[in-house]
Amino acid sequence: MIALIKALHLATLALWCAGLIALPVVMQIYGRTPKVHTQAGFAEFRLLSHRAYTLVITPAAVITITAGSLLFVLEGLRDPWMLAKLGAVAGMVLIHAWLGHLISLTGEGAGRYRIPSPIPALVGALGFMGLTLWLVLAKPELAPLTDQLPDWLLHPRGRELPSDLVPI
Ligand code: HEM
Repeated sequence: MIALIKALHLATLALWCAGLIALPVVMQIYGRTPKVHTQAGFAEFRLLSHRAYTLVITPAAVITITAGSLLFVLEGLRDPWMLAKLGAVAGMVLIHAWLGHLISLTGEGAGRYRIPSPIPALVGALGFMGLTLWLVLAKPELAPLTDQLPDWLLHPRGRELPSDLVPI
């Protein structure tokens, strides 16, 4: 069972990562050239970016995170590298959302919209992907680092929530 879920996790994360690299490249090559201001060029760019984002890359991200969360629960992993990996994945999710925002703006602004440079998104995606892969494949011993954290971040404080934050 775990092997099957891991296979699904790996297959869909390959698609997700490929998409986070391909989308900024498509935006740069198709979305920032004069051709995008013609009807045919704009339609081609919209179909490619919108369909790839909604039909392939976003479902792949959802399945990767769902399968990863199942592995997390089934394997009972709580090591610091795993928790650091979740932080790096959050960075990938932010880049994914930012690319979706740019794609939806191209639709709303039609041919008038000038898409900003996707290069920072590409650099960020490569950085977070590399960090995620390094953390999960090298499984570095992070305990010496986490031991430096202040005590209030490491142990429950045993305090009650302020009463106005607790639903009645
Ligand atoms: C919220 C999202 C994610 C969660 C909860 C998650 C969780 C997990 C867990 C629990 C494992 C099993 C680790 C082991 O058996 O040692 C795993 C394996 C793996 N994950 Fe993720 N993962 C997530 C996203 C990602 C992403 C975005 C990537 C790549 C960019 C990735 C790359 C990998 C790789 C390469 C493995 C196989 C490691 C091995 O078998 O040694 N994961 N993941």
